[in-house]
Amino acid sequence: MRTFTNVKDIGDLKVALAEAQEIKQNRYKYETLGHHKTCLLIFFNNSLRTRLSTQKAARNLGMDVIVLDINQGAWKLETERGVVMDGDKSEHLLEAIPVMANYCDVIGVRSFARFESREDDYTEKILNQFIKYSGKPVFSMEAATGHPLQAFADLITIEEYKRKDRPKVVLTWAPHPKALPQAVPNSFADWMNEADVDFVITHPHGYELDPKFVRGAKVEYDQKKAFEGADFIYAKNWACPGVTTPEDYGKVLCKDMSWTVDTEHMSWTNNAYFLHCLPVRRNMIVTDDVIEAPTSLVIPEAANREISATVVLRRLLESL
Ligand code: CP
Repeated sequence: MRTFTNVKDIGDLKVALAEAQEIKQNRYKYETLGHHKTCLLIFFNNSLRTRLSTQKAARNLGMDVIVLDINQGAWKLETERGVVMDGDKSEHLLEAIPVMANYCDVIGVRSFARFESREDDYTEKILNQFIKYSGKPVFSMEAATGHPLQAFADLITIEEYKRKDRPKVVLTWAPHPKALPQAVPNSFADWMNEADVDFVITHPHGYELDPKFVRGAKVEYDQKKAFEGADFIYAKNWACPGVTTPEDYGKVLCKDMSWTVDTEHMSWTNNAYFLHCLPVRRNMIVTDDVIEAPTSLVIPEAANREISATVVLRRLLESL
């Protein structure tokens, strides 16, 4: 595996899940694989879980790790070709990428959607420049339209806690004060569509996710109907994806607090487990009592980020 940006890159999910369990039994099993190999983690945006879990995963495999926060201490980077660089940006990404690639063997990139251009975000302009110009294996640590390390950890968690062979999994939109990218719900849909689950998406009108990720999934606009019989509730906010109204791309169209996941919502389900990628805004997305309930899996879900990253880095190291 030379790149990791979506579910297709990981191949057979049953094999990937078996590898995850193998790593979970002994996370240092491949501790010599990364000897004298360096993992460079580049953050254009903030992070807690990805920053820590991916470093831990690289160290599980015996790698050295370099973390670069582009906006804190590095030169400000221009990303557009043809720009007269007379502003505050001192270096161009087209030089910075091959320079950074000299110092490492594998590169992780976090670069969120900018909401300036739907086309730029949905063609993954920044991530694809790293793939094209670094000459190194590149993996997404959440890009403009996808967060595959998170979705893989989500799937591992569902596999560990499911009470039936084919559980019903519901992705629900929930309110948030700020405009958030669609990376997490897109990737969750991408992975659930490949997994052995009954997958349903629910959101207000106007929040339709890109068909590339929704594919054949059922979309139910009535949140209560969607929740009925659910075994897992995956809550997430996202801003307007601009599918039905391109002019609204990246806007907050709705702050309807009736979509907040509370105990009444959870009572509609089959005693469902609650999932969220974190960070979460309590009492916007989910109430205190739901996130603190024994059925909340947010902490083991976050712990599985180390496992998903270890599996992915192992695959990338094997490609060297
Ligand atoms: N879930 C997730 O990616 O968390 P961070 O943004 O803190 O890395």
